[in-house]
Amino acid sequence: MEKGTPKIVIAFDGFSSSGKSTMARALAKRLGYRYIDSGAMYRAVTLYALEHGMIGADGTVDAEALTKTLPEINIDFAVQPDGSQHTVLNGKDVESEIRNIEVSSHVSAVAALPAIRHDLVTKQQAFGKSKGIIMDGRDIGTTVFPDAELKIFVNAPAATRALRRYEELKAKGQQVSYDEILANVEQRDHLDSTRAESPLRRADDAIDLDNSDMTIAQQDAWLDKVVAERLKAL
Ligand code: DC
Repeated sequence: MEKGTPKIVIAFDGFSSSGKSTMARALAKRLGYRYIDSGAMYRAVTLYALEHGMIGADGTVDAEALTKTLPEINIDFAVQPDGSQHTVLNGKDVESEIRNIEVSSHVSAVAALPAIRHDLVTKQQAFGKSKGIIMDGRDIGTTVFPDAELKIFVNAPAATRALRRYEELKAKGQQVSYDEILANVEQRDHLDSTRAESPLRRADDAIDLDNSDMTIAQQDAWLDKVVAERLKAL
């Protein structure tokens, strides 16, 4: 990027496994921006709740206990030597654990709790204070950064997204079935878009991207063009 180009806030929203994290992370690297995976923050809180017995066998979350312990839950991101970022929960690298199917199955219930959302949204907004940030999630363009200079809404059919996540987890050596992943993706789509507190919603001023038939290189080229146009229009 040219010197003197103003730094902006870029919001990526979309359904789970739409590939938004991969493209947002790569874009941040190309622009020299900070990337924050807001879903990882909800996942870290969910892992904490599971580890501390705050989620029952029937999936019910003890919202009161979890809300009370919020001040004890410290979430951070540690930059790795290869430039990637790992989620750190109370000093422990939990990057791998927060992606497992157990956390994935309970995270939507945790993310639906208003007190948890308020706490995490405040933390997310603090990350954006100095601009030059790309954040992905469900409510970034609507609630976290309603004034973001650029908002992208990513979508693809549930079956395409489930296949992506299945291949991703399999490559990491996790034992998973495609049907289980598809059921999880569909369940999360439903929970994320129907919850009362800041549901997944496309911001009115977002630019749509359906990446079902796009290669990573095509997505990246599309994004670079959109970003360049937005920066030029500032
Ligand atoms: O993007 P992800 O699949 O890692 O997100 C995990 C869950 O967190 C997802 O089911 C919805 C929730 N989430 C949210 O409610 N708001 C965000 N900004 C990000 C994620």
